[in-house]
Amino acid sequence: DVANQELVVGCDLGSYKVVGLVGVKEEDKIKVLGWGEAESKGIEKGVIINIEKASESIEEALKMAFRMAGKDKKEIMVSISGEHAEGKIEKGFVVIQTPDNEIRREDVKKVIEQAKTRSYSEEKEVIFVYPNHFIVDDQKGIKEPVGMIGVKLEVEAFVLKAKKNVLKTIEKCFKRVGFEIEGYITQPLASSFAVLDEEEKSQGCVLIDIGKGTTDLAIWKDGGIQYTSTLKIGGDFLAGDLATCLKIPKIKAEELLKKYSFAHPKFAEGKETVLIERTGGRPPIKVTPEEYAQITEARLIEIFRFCELEILKWGGKENLIAGIVLTGGYANLEGIEEIAEEVFKLSVIKKGAKDVIGLSNEITHPSYSAAIGVLKIGIMEREKIKKMKKKSFFRKLIDFLEKI
Ligand SMILES: Nc1ncnc2c1ncn2[C@@H]1O[C@H](COP(=O)(O)OP(=O)(O)OP(=O)(O)O)[C@@H](O)[C@H]1O
Ligand SMILES: [Mg+2]
Repeated sequence: DVANQELVVGCDLGSYKVVGLVGVKEEDKIKVLGWGEAESKGIEKGVIINIEKASESIEEALKMAFRMAGKDKKEIMVSISGEHAEGKIEKGFVVIQTPDNEIRREDVKKVIEQAKTRSYSEEKEVIFVYPNHFIVDDQKGIKEPVGMIGVKLEVEAFVLKAKKNVLKTIEKCFKRVGFEIEGYITQPLASSFAVLDEEEKSQGCVLIDIGKGTTDLAIWKDGGIQYTSTLKIGGDFLAGDLATCLKIPKIKAEELLKKYSFAHPKFAEGKETVLIERTGGRPPIKVTPEEYAQITEARLIEIFRFCELEILKWGGKENLIAGIVLTGGYANLEGIEEIAEEVFKLSVIKKGAKDVIGLSNEITHPSYSAAIGVLKIGIMEREKIKKMKKKSFFRKLIDFLEKI
């Protein structure tokens, strides 16, 4: 039986659905014990526009997850839209002052704290820090510097900040229904941690999560986070285009996208005619699959072109050996990989979360990547705190000597 303090609860505030997950670490995997989901209300393009409605969705999703898990918890890890967040690479520097120049956990803590302080701002709060790599004297690319010998320790960390007011509003939504927020992460990073493997992160890749209201993008290279961005265009725009082109209500277009989920003309071949039912005894509208795919393809190309601009803004795609990794609810459209390949001229793969056990069949659908990712980060942060509390050998020795 799992102790309550071992449980991690994650909540992804998407614009299509709010997902609640209860999980626990099992070896190097995540075991999902409970899962709940509610229609996203009061959240538009990842931004809360109605506190009362948003808290209802949050409560519904979390209660469902707790019921399934047979356990509950007050503290929740939350993944929010990247819209109001800002990520930047910051540096930290400390001189090692132990007599034998051995780097202790305290030094690592101090150097990360320094990188964090660099990015101080009045209206923004640091919500997450990820040390991309450490530099000991002049040796770069170190992931675990504790125990190494050197005179100076530097860090290059990805520091993520979000607007305090936005966080306060989100906090309010959770408080209303009796929850507290344990930590925040943005959706592009949450999805990254769920989906990407170590090789992709080190070779260089771009994670693209296409949801209903937003497209999230994260660039990884050399095992570190290089850049993240959230575009306010998502799969919703495909439905909008279908509605306009076919002169049907948007809600009908959304249904069509679920039923006819292909996006590339190549995949239209041999597909059945797209039928749009009408009321009042009118005959259904018939659209050829080719025509249908042309509409969806055009919009996806546009979304990918915007993503490409972000990649160029960061520094170009030459060094992104592992290419593009697609996830999110709309990554499931048939032919989307081919469209992405044509735009980016890079290798493209579509994926859901990895290393999940428990409800893995349901929950590794690409639309749950951010939700699984926020659980994973909850677990990671816990491990970090545990490690920090563990004293280094050197520290223990000093304490021992001081006592006698
Ligand atoms: N479990 C599922 N199985 C099949 N399709 C799904 C599932 N969940 C979502 N979808 C599809 O994915 C689309 C929404 O994508 P997603 O769930 O990634 O959005 P979101 O994360 O809530 O939104 P955003 O990230 O933009 O805030 C929906 O239109 C739906 O058709
Ligand atoms: Mg999402």
